[in-house]
Amino acid sequence: MTSDQARRRVEQLTREVERHNRLYYEEAAPEISDRDFDALLRELEELEAAFPQFAAADSPTRHVGGQPLAAFASVAHVVPMMSLANTYSMSELREFDARVRRTLGAQNYTYLLEPKIDGVAVSLRYESGRLTLGSTRGDGRTGDDITQNLKTLRTIPVRLRGKDLPDAVEIRGEVFMPRAGFAALNQERQEAGLDAFANPRNAAAGSLKQLDPRVVAERPLDAVFYGIGQLEGAQFKTHADLLSALKRWGLPTHERVWTCTDIDEALQHLEELHQLRHDFPFEIDGGVLKVNERGLYEELGATSKSPRWAVAYKYEPEQAETRLRTITVQVGRTGVLTPVAELEPVLLSGSTVSRATLHNEDEIARKDIRVGDLVVVEKAGEIIPAVVSVQTEKRTGAETRFVMPDTCPACGGPVARREGEVAVRCENSLCPAQLKNTIRYFAARGAMDIEGLGESLIDQLVDRGLVRTVADLYRLSLEEVAGLERMAEKSAGNLLDAIEKSKGHPLWRLLSGLGIRHIGAQSARTLAAEFEDLAALRAADQERLESIQDIGPKAAESIVAFFRAPHNQAVLESLRAAGVDPKGEVSSPPTGAALAGKSFVLTGTLPTLTREQAAERIRAAGGKVTSSVSKKTDFVVAGENAGSKFEKAEKLGVAILSEEALLKMLDG
Ligand code: IVH
Repeated sequence: MTSDQARRRVEQLTREVERHNRLYYEEAAPEISDRDFDALLRELEELEAAFPQFAAADSPTRHVGGQPLAAFASVAHVVPMMSLANTYSMSELREFDARVRRTLGAQNYTYLLEPKIDGVAVSLRYESGRLTLGSTRGDGRTGDDITQNLKTLRTIPVRLRGKDLPDAVEIRGEVFMPRAGFAALNQERQEAGLDAFANPRNAAAGSLKQLDPRVVAERPLDAVFYGIGQLEGAQFKTHADLLSALKRWGLPTHERVWTCTDIDEALQHLEELHQLRHDFPFEIDGGVLKVNERGLYEELGATSKSPRWAVAYKYEPEQAETRLRTITVQVGRTGVLTPVAELEPVLLSGSTVSRATLHNEDEIARKDIRVGDLVVVEKAGEIIPAVVSVQTEKRTGAETRFVMPDTCPACGGPVARREGEVAVRCENSLCPAQLKNTIRYFAARGAMDIEGLGESLIDQLVDRGLVRTVADLYRLSLEEVAGLERMAEKSAGNLLDAIEKSKGHPLWRLLSGLGIRHIGAQSARTLAAEFEDLAALRAADQERLESIQDIGPKAAESIVAFFRAPHNQAVLESLRAAGVDPKGEVSSPPTGAALAGKSFVLTGTLPTLTREQAAERIRAAGGKVTSSVSKKTDFVVAGENAGSKFEKAEKLGVAILSEEALLKMLDG
């Protein structure tokens, strides 16, 4: 397999494994069997072991959650978990009250108003005060057993407090992600190159579906409880009494609820709640009105889905109209270009909004969003406001269509949209917007091999502005490095030594570390065997590059484009000035070397040597190792399970050697 093929396969496998992880862990909707999943993961692990230069730090082979456990068990709720009838208007609330009054006739009743959280409904079962089961609503009758996940929430007690505990009780409530935690989690995910959750509700739901409770424990989840299912060995007169009991037992409940003597008062308090909604640390999407006297519930009854003693009033998502001034493009850490709407500032959901994400170019085209348009922005449970529609009838004709730039706004490098993706990415490996990734790649074992330069150090160096390009690594002082967190003077010295040592590495390591598209460690070696130094490589044109065995037109084009980009030229110049100007190994074949000038291709599993060991020995003896067979190939060394290369060698009449024959040649 050529390194190009390996890189492509690694990328493809990573995407596939991540997609199946998501389907399995977050959507609980796997498309393939565990066995097939394991096979994909294993292939990726093996490729990463053989081509460590392509093993990304955030590869799905490296984080927990990559190995699915068993799916959740199904559990039945003793009393089904019902939903609520929703209304969006005050007049419907009055109708609800009129129905209650009709049913109850002369009996007196009051209401309790609670905030409605947009989260995930859960049920906790306590027997003699001990938590025995935690589950999702599921279809209302059966849900998933997520006890272990729920136990990771600090606010959920495994034992209830107090003496008046019921023999058995199902306690109902909502798990949610507070705004601040949601924002932090999304930032982390984006930095790790993962998809951000669209809103706190999705984030909470996705978290609870994780099969590994350790992952759940790291998610900023909280819960609030507001009701019960089965209840044995206790009784409550009013809903307010029930809420007090939940609180006494140690469960989190709403800090504020409103008792209302009649519907008029309820509507007033609902308005008050609406005004207060942005003061809560979590998203509120409405209010829930419940008849307070529990003794009346039976009489009021229920539909197949919801009780007739409660109703949810939901706020319309908040919208505002404003002018789209311009569209800017941001480059993310993974090189994805995201168009952002720059808006005339407008007040929305309690804060001034002046930017909204436009996601990608397809989304802009689908909504026909143009610069200068009057647009409607919405913040519905979403922290990031979005442009939902355009007031096309208010167009003047002066509006202009947006075109995605064809170069990266951060570095001027080329951008491309890969097959099957909506995202446009910057292809320049040295792009400053992708700096942390770039440095990680540069320092990796298969490249400049700078020991000790790990992720947390890279984060600090970039965040503190000490490193703006890879060349800055060579200008770090002992004082600067020792000033970083968790850095003693001794380890700072070691790091600087490792950086210094990397200056002496051969050219192929630098070429591999620059992350030029289509150039992995193998092609980097090929190039280093052809060119004296970077300057010679830079001077080579497309034709010259293509004439090199194993360098195809795409790789050649990518090399030319890389050296042409002014940003890259500046970085290379700084590297040279800092003393990083390694030499190629062109002068090679040591005189009289056994394999001088001969080119080899290795295929299949050799009996005693790994392919890498065999390649090393061939190179040491002056030979060249390439990855594809052509007429120019002198020998193909074939082991067990040799495939198409073996066939090609036979077809072209290239000599085929066993490992044994190779060893004899090497011995001289
Ligand atoms: S009571 C049998 N109270 O909203 C009544 N539900 O849209 C069960 N919710 O299914 C629900 N806050 O998941 C109730 N204070 C609250 C709530 C609440 C949020 C959720 C719950 C419900 C959904 C209906």
